[in-house]
Amino acid sequence: MTASDERKNILILGANGFIGSTLCAHLLAKTQHEVYAVDLATHKLAPCLKHPRFHFYERDLLIHHEDIHYLVKKCDIILPLVAIATPELYVTKPLSVFELDFEANLKVIRWCAEYDKRVIFPSTSEVYGMATDEAFAEHTTNFILGPVDKQRWIYSCCKQLMDRLIYAYGFEKNLRYTLFRPFNFIGAKLDDIRNDAGSRIVTQFLHNALHRQPLKLVDGGFNRRCFTYINDGIDCLLRIIENKNACADKEIFNIGNPNENYSVAELAKILKEVLHEFDTKLADAVKIETVSADDYYGKGYQDIARRVPSVKAAKEKLGWEPKTSLREALRRILNYHFNGVDPDAILLKNS
Ligand code: UGA
Repeated sequence: MTASDERKNILILGANGFIGSTLCAHLLAKTQHEVYAVDLATHKLAPCLKHPRFHFYERDLLIHHEDIHYLVKKCDIILPLVAIATPELYVTKPLSVFELDFEANLKVIRWCAEYDKRVIFPSTSEVYGMATDEAFAEHTTNFILGPVDKQRWIYSCCKQLMDRLIYAYGFEKNLRYTLFRPFNFIGAKLDDIRNDAGSRIVTQFLHNALHRQPLKLVDGGFNRRCFTYINDGIDCLLRIIENKNACADKEIFNIGNPNENYSVAELAKILKEVLHEFDTKLADAVKIETVSADDYYGKGYQDIARRVPSVKAAKEKLGWEPKTSLREALRRILNYHFNGVDPDAILLKNS
């Protein structure tokens, strides 16, 4: 048995989130690890709940410090995935972003350092801000953020400071860490499809289409994103957790799909085409309109024109590459919403 085959206790804070819930299912289906999951609810975790290696704790990171402290001490690998990660909330609730994404997570990092735990922390594609490099690289791209009264950047700024702090703990105290930067992960469980507003783009567009509301292109929909299917992202995270020959120790990895780079207007068009495969009438009824950023988000918003990851580090050190096209990802998302096909449930059933 190699070190990477050993059964570990893995703590996932924010397990009912988009990344957390999919990661739990994949860990249970594909590894022998024990999964300790913390969150306020379990609806995205339904396929995992009865699994013998799944241990759920209904706790709030902002309140139940003692319990979470205990769990950090008990476990071997810690993934603190609790965060506000929707741009609408960066603009309307910047203090909550600071309190949760920075302050609450800081406590966890300090416990990881104190008890010599391995931590795998979610940085973000947003740390690069409005950088102008063709492709953003972990060690060479400069971060460019807007002014203070564009509070959209508070999320980027909090995550950046967490990155720098974790790096510093590694540098001075030998904390074993990996930082990963998701680039627009998409999947069926991204945001709540029932919400009228405030979701990230794919969920928001789908909600609008299903409710016969127009898809709104902020400032014309010219800004571009690279869309990454959640299962590709999780495949990369599993390699980081496995950490063969310590390949992920003290490393930073962009996780994204540089080949699936589309403007928001192109995304709207492609979504409409894929929707056609599921419901012709509904797809034909989809209207697309433009709205100003001020009207949609308010004055504290500023956008990122293009954001392409370099995934050279993940390829070279982890042997990882993204595989899923935007179209295929959208098909799987629609298959969940139209036909109830939950890929996590299928995975666990077949494991
Ligand atoms: C996201 C979020 O900050 C995080 O989830 C994450 O850290 C990061 O980026 C990532 O996933 O890489 P952003 O890409 O701006 O930020 O999030 P979306 O809300 O999905 O917006 C994407 C683009 O669509 C933006 O240009 C936005 O203005 C536009 N948009 C959004 C519309 O044109 N219409 C809408 O109805 C919603």
